[in-house]
Amino acid sequence: MKHEAYETRISELLKQMTLEEKVGQLRQCGPSLAGAFGVSFEELLNMMFDGKISREEFERQMSTAEQDFHEEDLRAGRIGSYNGIGDAATANRLQKIAVEETRLGIPLLFGCDVIHGFRTVTPIPLAEACSFEPELWEKTARVAAREATAAGVHMTFAPMVDVAKDARWGRVCEGAGEDTMLASLYGAAKVRGFQNGNPGAKDSMAACVKHFAGYGAVEAGKDYNRVDMSMQRFYEEYLPPYEACVKAGALAVMPAFNDINGIPCSVNRWLLTDVLRDKWGFDGMTISDSNAIAECVIHGIAEDKADAAAQALAAGMDMDMASDCYHENLAALVESGVVKEEDLNRAVADVLRVKFELGLFDCPYRTDTAREQAELLKEEYRGIAREAACKSMVLLKNENVLPLQKEVRLGIVGGLADAPDEMVGAWAIGARGEDCVSILDACRSRNVPFSYTAGLKECNADGKAEVDREALTRVAEESDVLLLAIGEQKNQSGEAASRADITIAPEQLEMLSVLKESGKPVAVVLFNGRPLAMPGVAEAADAILEAWHPGVEAGNAVLDILFGEVNPSGKLVMTFPYAAGQCPVYYAHINTGRPGGRGKFTSKYLDTPLVPLYPFGYGLSYTTYEYSNLKVEQQEEAATVSVIVKNTGKTDGEETVQCYFRDVTAKRVRPVKQLIDFEKIALKAGEEREVRFVIPYDKLGYLDMEMNYIVEEGWFEVSVGGSSADCLTERFEL
Ligand code: BGC
Repeated sequence: MKHEAYETRISELLKQMTLEEKVGQLRQCGPSLAGAFGVSFEELLNMMFDGKISREEFERQMSTAEQDFHEEDLRAGRIGSYNGIGDAATANRLQKIAVEETRLGIPLLFGCDVIHGFRTVTPIPLAEACSFEPELWEKTARVAAREATAAGVHMTFAPMVDVAKDARWGRVCEGAGEDTMLASLYGAAKVRGFQNGNPGAKDSMAACVKHFAGYGAVEAGKDYNRVDMSMQRFYEEYLPPYEACVKAGALAVMPAFNDINGIPCSVNRWLLTDVLRDKWGFDGMTISDSNAIAECVIHGIAEDKADAAAQALAAGMDMDMASDCYHENLAALVESGVVKEEDLNRAVADVLRVKFELGLFDCPYRTDTAREQAELLKEEYRGIAREAACKSMVLLKNENVLPLQKEVRLGIVGGLADAPDEMVGAWAIGARGEDCVSILDACRSRNVPFSYTAGLKECNADGKAEVDREALTRVAEESDVLLLAIGEQKNQSGEAASRADITIAPEQLEMLSVLKESGKPVAVVLFNGRPLAMPGVAEAADAILEAWHPGVEAGNAVLDILFGEVNPSGKLVMTFPYAAGQCPVYYAHINTGRPGGRGKFTSKYLDTPLVPLYPFGYGLSYTTYEYSNLKVEQQEEAATVSVIVKNTGKTDGEETVQCYFRDVTAKRVRPVKQLIDFEKIALKAGEEREVRFVIPYDKLGYLDMEMNYIVEEGWFEVSVGGSSADCLTERFEL
């Protein structure tokens, strides 16, 4: 927030700064690596993410290569920020140069992708969102901030609040799923957790909300693809989560790679200035996505890097991440009058303001190696990671298999049960495989008897892995219950990991059918970063636990649930399709004039069922809940909705009671259901409770053709239940 004392100091600084120093403040560099295969740090990191080199190789290259921090430029005041430095010693060494050796001593800002935990990796966001628990989202963000700041980080490029309805898009793992309201609550909770109401505190880090805006709607789920939609839909379904984060006080915003209706977000003045600053009152800094300004040339919207720089700055982009378009061109552009110096000053002021808010001018070194060592991977943090993992998991099917009896002998199949470093999922820069607990590790530490096989023979001549039927049969014979760990490797989701085919791999399906032949019960544990199209698994498995990529405590949390020490309570925040061809498929769709049905000429596919495999909001428990007595009472300004929820089973549990609404007849077609509120309640076996939701009428509106927000009179439906597809419904008239 603008603060008079800062503004005075900012204008004093601006008066003293040379053109070159101003441009320097807008430049973010990553260290490049001289020596390591001759590639940059980011490229090396990507090689590791893509599985081209192992983590060990990555670390070897990192330690032998000369990291080039462009120190000459730093000394000359030509660098304002670094990305990707996550250790206190390096951060402090560079900070010392900035503070003591540059002419004006302006401190550096260290940014880093701390997406779901730093060293203590917590579940991927898509998983954590399934807990429907804002307090938990905030708590894990606190842990991330405490660890990352101890390692020298000032700003995280998170939360990602791109509403995502297409499971083919690899980045669905980084956000809170398909629902706008949930993504808004999730994002705001993360901002609170990262910044803790006081960004200047040493254990707070600035939140950089991304990717502004609409990145989750990339056409065909293909990463970096175009986005084109009605303005009404953009405002109603895609913009609210970013706005919620800005309202929660996020200090930074990262524009998205994609275009919106033809204008790349990086140079989109309407988005970055009219909406973000003028309409929402944002006064923090914007920072481009990596190399995104330069990519405007390839996009076909800028002649060259200079043109891209001029367009981006004029649009409202403050800092240039990695592309050096500003560094190479802005000074000349200002001198020639193409770029106004006042625009440059505005951008520099935005960056300086964030540095002031973070307290960097008074305390540039916010950590040291002693704090770093003491802070990382504390037992307390592991406990929180385990709680988060348990609450993230979703029980999709259970036919009398789970929870397991204590004395059971397990037959465990699938390499993912023995792959600690796969458990962290995409975007876990601070992760270390040796910190992670696999299913096998957890069985060993609890003395659970088990037999195990990865289930595959060495690759054959075509590079295809063959199922080891003998090993599977042997494991099945030795065991009472079979556990099949399948799904995705961590590099199969995340950035640049879109998939056209999101089914379960054929060899994994084959393992399932071989295990089924044994006649023993088979529980599937899924590790994955997106909803998968898996009707075959849904049919054949006796139980399915969706564990996602659960983080460092993976194995412990899976066993907590399998053995019934924790009753599963997660609910899906993204629809599971039958087939990738259904994507995007989501609960808040509209009705066409010919909703799918029996007749030929209705909206459907010939080769998939009408409904998805598992709907939004769905998730089983070891107990059952009964909903009854749904009532709507209308008051002057709001409707009060009440329902009785009863735990009808023998186990205590937690249930997320979901409340949806629908405007039945409107001037623009409205979704058949929209989540408007929810409450997660704990119910002892046999206990019942009334749950009430107060729904203000002014939340029931939408944008008309002229973009006016209107709440119409007429009939509304309210639906309450434990899944979007299983609700009691009532109507009321407004
Ligand atoms: C990603 C961003 C990330 C940035 C910085 C980009 O490729 O799209 O989400 O924050 O890299 O590492």
